[in-house]
Amino acid sequence: MKFFVDTADVAAIRELNDLGMVDGVTTNPSLILKSGRDIAEVTREICEIVSGPVSAEVVASDAEGMIAEGRHLAKIADNIAVKVPLTWDGLRACKVLSGEGRMVNVTLCFSPAQAILAAKAGASFISPFIGRLDDINLDGMELIAQIREIYDNYDWTTEILAASIRSVNHITDAARIGADVITAPPAVIKAMASHVLTDKGLDQFNADWAKTGQKIV
Ligand code: E4P
Repeated sequence: MKFFVDTADVAAIRELNDLGMVDGVTTNPSLILKSGRDIAEVTREICEIVSGPVSAEVVASDAEGMIAEGRHLAKIADNIAVKVPLTWDGLRACKVLSGEGRMVNVTLCFSPAQAILAAKAGASFISPFIGRLDDINLDGMELIAQIREIYDNYDWTTEILAASIRSVNHITDAARIGADVITAPPAVIKAMASHVLTDKGLDQFNADWAKTGQKIV
C-alpha cells in the first residue's frame, strides 16, 4: 500500500518523507488555503521534496477550463497528477489529459458508478472520500470494497486512492480491503505509531531499569 500525505504543509511533508513514509502528496483548494501560500510556489516546493505523484486540483467547472488549468499545473513538475472533480466535465477533462500522458486523479467520488466512469475515462487514481460518507451516516469503507471488487473484475489499472481519512482505523481497514493508496493528514499517519499498551509497557521498563542503577552507554 502506498502512503500519500494529504496536506500542503511543507514541513510536515518533509518530516514524513525523511522517514520514508511518503509515496506521494494530495492537495486541494482547502489545503492550499490552509497553507496560506501561492499554489504554484508551494506545489513546486512539494515536488522538489517528493518524487512520487503530487496532486494539484483544478478549480474550473467546465471541461475546457479544467484542461487549460491542468496543462498549466502539469508544467510545475513531471510528477504532478492533475486532480479533477467527478463531474461529467471532469471526466471529459480526465479523458483529454490522460490521453496526453498526464497522471489524473479524479476526486470527490462517492459511488461505485462514479468510480466506473473514472476508470473508463483513463484516470490514474480514483479518490473515494471515506470520512465525508461516514459524516452523513453512510459507509465509506463499503465504497472502497465495492470499487475494489469492480476494478478487480476487469483488471482495471486505475489505482484506488482512499481519501478523506480521519482515523487510524480508516487506514488499516482500507489496507485490509486492498486500497492501492491511502492519503491521510500527517497527524493521522503519526497516530498509527501510538498504542496505550506501548506507553504503559515503556513506563514499566523505564521504572525497572532505573532500579537496576545501570547504564548502557
Ligand atoms: C483527497 O485528496 C482530499 O484532499 C482529502 O482527503 C479530503 O479530506 P477531508 O474530507 O477530510 O477534507
